[in-house]
Amino acid sequence: MNILGIETSCDETSAAVVSGGRVLSNVVSSQHCHSGFGGVVPELASREHERMIVSIVDATVTEANIRKKDIDIIAATAGPGLIGAVMVGLCFAQGLAYALDIPFVPVNHIEAHIFSPFIVEGPDSRGPEGRFISMTVSGGHTLLAAVHPDMTYEVIGRTIDDAAGEAFDKTGKMLGLPYPAGPEIDRLAKQGNPFFHEFPRALTSHSQTSRNYRGNTDFSFSGLKTSVLTYVQKQTPEFIERHLADIAASIQHAIVSVLVEKTIAAAKNLGIRSVSVAGGVSANSALRKAMQEACMREGLALHIPGTRYSTDNAAMIATLANLKLSKGMKAERRYDIAPFASLESGSNRKG
Ligand code: KG4
Ligand code: ZN
Repeated sequence: MNILGIETSCDETSAAVVSGGRVLSNVVSSQHCHSGFGGVVPELASREHERMIVSIVDATVTEANIRKKDIDIIAATAGPGLIGAVMVGLCFAQGLAYALDIPFVPVNHIEAHIFSPFIVEGPDSRGPEGRFISMTVSGGHTLLAAVHPDMTYEVIGRTIDDAAGEAFDKTGKMLGLPYPAGPEIDRLAKQGNPFFHEFPRALTSHSQTSRNYRGNTDFSFSGLKTSVLTYVQKQTPEFIERHLADIAASIQHAIVSVLVEKTIAAAKNLGIRSVSVAGGVSANSALRKAMQEACMREGLALHIPGTRYSTDNAAMIATLANLKLSKGMKAERRYDIAPFASLESGSNRKG
């Protein structure tokens, strides 16, 4: 069965073909028109998706070495995301499914990240077995969930303010880095000292009010943002420039240690032996390394999708549709699905 996946929820236009559960092609076009604005401009994002969608779908079909008439099912992100951006991919996907007279499967973007460790590239790829703790960290979400083998899940913790990706992007902007600053901080931090300055790690054992917050499973990154702003304002531009790598490494250390501590604590508290990290921030090299070390220490299995499946991609959309269909979900010839803005709509969440 050939599934065409389409993803346009933010600033990546992507299309992928998954066949028999395996990725045949995954084409991603990242939008560069936002870099001067310090964030994604929704109207520009929608227009850019419209400009790219036909050629990206054509490219992925060609790369998969199939023809459009060989596609059996189309799946697309129906939300959450920038509503206009979602609409471009969702309408295109439903229009194409209608024209080809094949079923359409709407997919929840965050769930696609959660299940991205199941993306199969080669004969050795294997997703988590049994229950697992998923730490999904993207530009819009920071979500800790306990995932069950029947694909239902409970949300254990989430951010009460900024997402982890936003913490990277916004603090990076304060350092004068272009959007998205996450990959830039990752790159700079490789040459920096993570202990150069101690930035706050809210709601953890390292927080100043840790006694009140011990065991708290939620996340908060707005204090870090304020702290970086105050720190930057107190220094001279020369000092910032000279210590850019050290400051980047210190910010990264604060974010990464919060994510690792909470993920490991959740696995231990619930007696779950498998952990996964997904979403754009899971491309971060320090997070991957720290999570690997912590899981090794605690005897936990770790599953992180390859970096090209960390950031937004359509392979995860087609893979989730495939997983759901393999668990008995029926794909319908329905082409009137409207986009949605929150995680809860159209999700498998049960707690
Ligand atoms: O999942 P994603 O591609 O889009 C959303 O669904 O939001 O995540 C994008 C986020 C951005 O905030 C970006 O800065 C962050 O992922 N990101 C990184 C890295 N690569 C992407 N953050 C830290 N280190 C990276 N290497
Ligand atoms: Zn995403």
